[in-house]
Amino acid sequence: MAQDKESKERLQKVLAQAGVASRRHAEQLILEGRVSVNGVKISALGHKVETDDYIEVDGKPVQRSEKPHYYLLNKPVSVITSVYDPQGRPTVTDLMKGVPVRVYPVGRLDYDTSGALLLTNDGELAHRLMHPSYGVEKTYRVWVQGPVGISALDNLRQGVLLEDGNTAPAIVERVCVVPKKSTEKSKSSRLEILEVTIHEGRNRQVRRMFAAVGYPVLKLERVRFGSLSQGNTLRSGAYRALTKEEIQELRSKAGL
Ligand code: URA
Repeated sequence: MAQDKESKERLQKVLAQAGVASRRHAEQLILEGRVSVNGVKISALGHKVETDDYIEVDGKPVQRSEKPHYYLLNKPVSVITSVYDPQGRPTVTDLMKGVPVRVYPVGRLDYDTSGALLLTNDGELAHRLMHPSYGVEKTYRVWVQGPVGISALDNLRQGVLLEDGNTAPAIVERVCVVPKKSTEKSKSSRLEILEVTIHEGRNRQVRRMFAAVGYPVLKLERVRFGSLSQGNTLRSGAYRALTKEEIQELRSKAGL
């Protein structure tokens, strides 16, 4: 009996773990009669499945997730955050050599952005962390040609109007001014590094925010994703498995 309890899982949980849908949406799929187990339609909640049961949604087989794996990659620039690139450019999965399962990036870093990227085969966690309602904080280090004026900083902090609407308030801090080389002529212009923390995940958001206040981004690196900070522990292109504590913290943030 105890063995039975361990091997069986609720159908909606298995669907969510496989990344088919959120748990709530998976329940809806079941109630709509779109899910079958071993060829039998299941249209009531409460059904439990064994690890070797064959599940289909709308007649398409569901790839059951293996044991969950979680990795933090220090993504280099000139790498695509995708599992495949039709143009043949290197992808983040090309860097995950030695990982025993197929893992997927959680969210996206631009081709020309480097830094902390989570990869996992835990579809449910990935789905939640990408959902705006969980508001995962991300911190970016931003290089711009300064000096950055106070009004630009205030604007970034309060929210910037972009073509897809106002950004939410952000935390913005100056990190340092890069010392000038003695050969540089201009007295006033200087390279500045700032850190910005946002909890939205719009396309090229940080670059667009800084461009909107007059400071195009010269270089961008993500230094923190939720509770995961890359620190200086990973060289560019390297990855590591998350610790148990890190996994637990991420899962509890995502309400799992
Ligand atoms: N904001 C950007 O502009 N680019 C990224 O890669 C991530 C956040």
